[in-house]
Amino acid sequence: MIIAVDGPAASGKGTIARALAKHYGLPHLDTGLLYRAVGATVLKNDLDPSNEADAVASCSFDDSLLDDPALKTEDAGKAASIVSAHPLVRAALLLRQKKFAHQPGGAVLDGRDIGTVIAPDADVKLFVKATPMIRAQRRHLELRKQGILASIDKVLGDIRARDERDTKRSDAPMKQAEDAALLDTSFLSIDAAVQRAIALVEARMAAK
Ligand code: DC
Repeated sequence: MIIAVDGPAASGKGTIARALAKHYGLPHLDTGLLYRAVGATVLKNDLDPSNEADAVASCSFDDSLLDDPALKTEDAGKAASIVSAHPLVRAALLLRQKKFAHQPGGAVLDGRDIGTVIAPDADVKLFVKATPMIRAQRRHLELRKQGILASIDKVLGDIRARDERDTKRSDAPMKQAEDAALLDTSFLSIDAAVQRAIALVEARMAAK
Protein backbone atom coordinates (compact mmCIF):
# COMPACT_ATOMS: atom_id res chain seq x y z
CA MET A 1 0.00 0.00 0.00
CA ILE A 2 1.37 3.42 -0.98
CA ILE A 3 0.11 6.34 1.12
CA ALA A 4 0.78 9.88 -0.16
CA VAL A 5 0.49 12.73 2.35
CA ASP A 6 0.78 16.25 0.95
CA GLY A 7 0.21 19.69 2.39
CA PRO A 8 1.84 22.96 3.45
CA ALA A 9 4.33 23.61 6.25
CA ALA A 10 3.01 23.10 9.81
CA SER A 11 -0.24 21.56 8.58
CA GLY A 12 0.49 18.40 10.57
CA LYS A 13 1.32 16.26 7.53
CA GLY A 14 4.67 15.05 8.92
CA THR A 15 3.19 13.93 12.24
CA ILE A 16 0.28 12.25 10.44
CA ALA A 17 2.58 10.50 7.93
CA ARG A 18 4.83 9.17 10.72
CA ALA A 19 1.81 7.94 12.69
CA LEU A 20 0.32 6.20 9.62
CA ALA A 21 3.68 4.53 8.88
CA LYS A 22 3.80 3.23 12.45
CA HIS A 23 0.18 2.11 12.42
CA TYR A 24 0.51 0.16 9.15
CA GLY A 25 4.14 -0.96 9.67
CA LEU A 26 5.33 0.82 6.52
CA PRO A 27 8.60 2.65 5.85
CA HIS A 28 8.29 6.46 5.80
CA LEU A 29 10.08 9.16 3.82
CA ASP A 30 9.86 12.86 4.71
CA THR A 31 10.66 14.22 1.23
CA GLY A 32 11.03 17.78 2.54
CA LEU A 33 14.27 16.62 4.17
CA LEU A 34 15.80 16.00 0.72
CA TYR A 35 15.08 19.58 -0.37
CA ARG A 36 16.26 20.85 3.03
CA ALA A 37 19.54 18.93 2.57
CA VAL A 38 20.06 20.65 -0.80
CA GLY A 39 19.15 24.05 0.68
CA ALA A 40 21.43 23.60 3.72
CA THR A 41 24.33 22.50 1.49
CA VAL A 42 23.88 25.60 -0.68
CA LEU A 43 23.96 27.83 2.42
CA LYS A 44 26.95 26.00 3.94
CA ASN A 45 28.97 26.54 0.75
CA ASP A 46 27.99 30.22 0.54
CA LEU A 47 26.14 29.63 -2.71
CA ASP A 48 22.87 31.22 -3.89
CA PRO A 49 19.68 29.09 -3.52
CA SER A 50 17.95 31.02 -6.29
CA ASN A 51 20.74 30.15 -8.75
CA GLU A 52 19.85 26.84 -10.43
CA ALA A 53 23.47 25.79 -11.10
CA ASP A 54 24.44 26.46 -7.45
CA ALA A 55 21.46 24.41 -6.26
CA VAL A 56 22.12 21.52 -8.67
CA ALA A 57 25.76 21.38 -7.52
CA SER A 58 24.41 20.77 -3.99
CA CYS A 59 22.18 17.80 -4.89
CA SER A 60 24.78 15.08 -4.26
CA PHE A 61 24.86 15.51 -0.48
CA ASP A 62 25.93 12.73 1.87
CA ASP A 63 22.96 10.80 3.31
CA SER A 64 24.24 11.26 6.87
CA LEU A 65 23.19 14.91 6.44
CA LEU A 66 19.52 13.82 6.53
CA ASP A 67 19.83 13.24 10.31
CA ASP A 68 21.36 16.66 10.97
CA PRO A 69 19.16 18.85 13.27
CA ALA A 70 20.36 21.87 11.22
CA LEU A 71 17.92 20.77 8.50
CA LYS A 72 15.00 21.64 10.81
CA THR A 73 15.85 25.35 11.03
CA GLU A 74 13.76 28.10 9.43
CA ASP A 75 16.74 29.09 7.25
CA ALA A 76 17.06 25.55 5.87
CA GLY A 77 13.28 25.46 5.25
CA LYS A 78 13.34 28.72 3.35
CA ALA A 79 16.39 27.67 1.29
CA ALA A 80 14.65 24.33 0.61
CA SER A 81 11.58 26.12 -0.71
CA ILE A 82 13.75 28.28 -3.00
CA VAL A 83 15.89 25.44 -4.41
CA SER A 84 12.81 23.23 -4.86
CA ALA A 85 11.47 25.57 -7.57
CA HIS A 86 14.37 24.63 -9.91
CA PRO A 87 13.29 21.87 -12.32
CA LEU A 88 16.82 20.38 -12.39
CA VAL A 89 16.82 20.05 -8.58
CA ARG A 90 13.43 18.30 -8.67
CA ALA A 91 14.71 16.02 -11.46
CA ALA A 92 17.82 15.13 -9.43
CA LEU A 93 15.68 14.01 -6.45
CA LEU A 94 12.86 12.36 -8.43
CA LEU A 95 14.11 8.80 -8.91
CA ARG A 96 15.07 8.32 -5.28
CA GLN A 97 11.55 9.28 -4.15
CA LYS A 98 9.82 7.18 -6.84
CA LYS A 99 11.89 4.15 -5.85
CA PHE A 100 11.07 4.63 -2.19
CA ALA A 101 7.35 4.90 -2.97
CA HIS A 102 7.32 1.81 -5.16
CA GLN A 103 9.39 -0.53 -3.00
CA PRO A 104 7.84 -3.96 -2.35
CA GLY A 105 5.36 -3.83 0.53
CA GLY A 106 4.58 -0.15 0.10
CA ALA A 107 5.49 3.08 1.87
CA VAL A 108 4.25 6.36 3.31
CA LEU A 109 5.71 9.57 1.86
CA ASP A 110 4.95 13.14 2.82
CA GLY A 111 5.69 16.30 0.85
CA ARG A 112 4.08 18.63 -1.65
CA ASP A 113 3.87 16.59 -4.87
CA ILE A 114 3.63 12.96 -3.72
CA GLY A 115 0.05 12.38 -4.91
CA THR A 116 0.53 14.37 -8.11
CA VAL A 117 4.08 13.56 -9.33
CA ILE A 118 5.99 11.03 -7.20
CA ALA A 119 3.21 8.47 -6.80
CA PRO A 120 0.10 9.44 -8.83
CA ASP A 121 -0.78 5.72 -8.48
CA ALA A 122 -0.81 5.85 -4.64
CA ASP A 123 -3.54 3.72 -3.03
CA VAL A 124 -4.46 6.50 -0.64
CA LYS A 125 -3.84 10.24 -0.99
CA LEU A 126 -4.36 12.72 1.81
CA PHE A 127 -4.06 16.49 1.51
CA VAL A 128 -3.55 17.95 4.96
CA LYS A 129 -4.28 21.62 5.56
CA ALA A 130 -4.87 24.16 8.33
CA THR A 131 -5.40 27.92 8.27
CA PRO A 132 -2.22 30.02 7.92
CA MET A 133 -2.86 31.62 11.34
CA ILE A 134 -3.14 28.28 13.10
CA ARG A 135 -0.04 26.97 11.34
CA ALA A 136 1.82 30.15 12.38
CA GLN A 137 0.72 29.65 16.00
CA ARG A 138 1.98 26.03 15.94
CA ARG A 139 5.30 27.04 14.42
CA HIS A 140 5.62 29.95 16.88
CA LEU A 141 5.17 27.53 19.80
CA GLU A 142 7.73 25.08 18.36
CA LEU A 143 10.23 27.90 17.94
CA ARG A 144 9.63 29.07 21.50
CA LYS A 145 10.36 25.56 22.79
CA GLN A 146 13.69 25.79 20.96
CA GLY A 147 14.33 29.13 22.67
CA ILE A 148 13.80 31.10 19.45
CA LEU A 149 11.69 34.22 19.89
CA ALA A 150 9.94 35.42 16.74
CA SER A 151 6.74 37.46 16.56
CA ILE A 152 3.58 35.73 15.30
CA ASP A 153 3.47 38.32 12.51
CA LYS A 154 6.95 37.37 11.33
CA VAL A 155 6.17 33.63 11.48
CA LEU A 156 2.86 34.19 9.66
CA GLY A 157 4.63 36.26 7.00
CA ASP A 158 7.21 33.50 6.48
CA ILE A 159 4.48 30.85 6.19
CA ARG A 160 2.56 32.91 3.63
CA ALA A 161 5.75 33.53 1.62
CA ARG A 162 6.56 29.81 1.63
CA ASP A 163 3.00 28.87 0.55
CA GLU A 164 3.20 31.41 -2.24
CA ARG A 165 6.53 30.01 -3.55
CA ASP A 166 5.45 26.37 -3.20
CA THR A 167 2.09 26.84 -4.96
CA LYS A 168 3.19 29.28 -7.68
CA ARG A 169 6.26 27.44 -9.02
CA SER A 170 5.72 25.98 -12.49
CA ASP A 171 7.31 22.56 -11.85
CA ALA A 172 5.28 20.25 -9.57
CA PRO A 173 3.58 23.00 -7.53
CA MET A 174 1.90 22.07 -4.26
CA LYS A 175 -1.70 21.18 -4.98
CA GLN A 176 -4.35 18.75 -3.85
CA ALA A 177 -4.53 15.76 -6.21
CA GLU A 178 -8.04 15.33 -7.66
CA ASP A 179 -8.44 11.99 -5.91
CA ALA A 180 -6.98 13.10 -2.56
CA ALA A 181 -9.05 13.19 0.63
CA LEU A 182 -8.86 16.55 2.37
CA LEU A 183 -7.99 16.60 6.06
CA ASP A 184 -8.28 19.99 7.77
CA THR A 185 -6.40 19.85 11.09
CA SER A 186 -7.16 23.47 12.10
CA PHE A 187 -9.34 22.50 15.02
CA LEU A 188 -8.09 18.98 15.72
CA SER A 189 -5.65 17.79 18.38
CA ILE A 190 -2.74 15.66 17.11
CA ASP A 191 -4.49 12.49 18.33
CA ALA A 192 -7.78 13.44 16.69
CA ALA A 193 -6.02 14.30 13.41
CA VAL A 194 -4.22 10.94 13.39
CA GLN A 195 -7.46 9.05 14.13
CA ARG A 196 -9.19 10.93 11.31
CA ALA A 197 -6.29 10.10 8.94
CA ILE A 198 -6.52 6.39 9.81
CA ALA A 199 -10.30 6.49 9.24
CA LEU A 200 -9.75 8.11 5.82
CA VAL A 201 -7.17 5.45 4.86
CA GLU A 202 -9.55 2.68 5.97
CA ALA A 203 -12.43 4.20 4.00
CA ARG A 204 -10.29 4.52 0.85
CA MET A 205 -9.01 0.95 1.12
CA ALA A 206 -12.52 -0.42 1.74
CA ALA A 207 -13.79 1.38 -1.37
CA LYS A 208 -11.11 -0.21 -3.59
O1 DC B 1 7.95 19.88 4.26
P1 DC B 1 9.12 20.82 4.50
O2 DC B 1 8.75 22.10 5.20
O3 DC B 1 10.27 20.15 5.18
O4 DC B 1 9.62 21.24 3.01
C1 DC B 1 10.60 22.20 2.79
C2 DC B 1 10.47 22.75 1.37
O5 DC B 1 10.83 21.74 0.43
C3 DC B 1 9.07 23.18 0.97
O6 DC B 1 8.83 24.53 1.29
C4 DC B 1 9.04 22.94 -0.52
C5 DC B 1 10.02 21.81 -0.73
N1 DC B 1 9.37 20.51 -0.98
C6 DC B 1 8.95 20.24 -2.25
O7 DC B 1 9.05 21.11 -3.12
N2 DC B 1 8.41 19.04 -2.57
C7 DC B 1 8.28 18.09 -1.63
N3 DC B 1 7.77 16.90 -1.97
C8 DC B 1 8.68 18.35 -0.30
C9 DC B 1 9.22 19.59 0.01
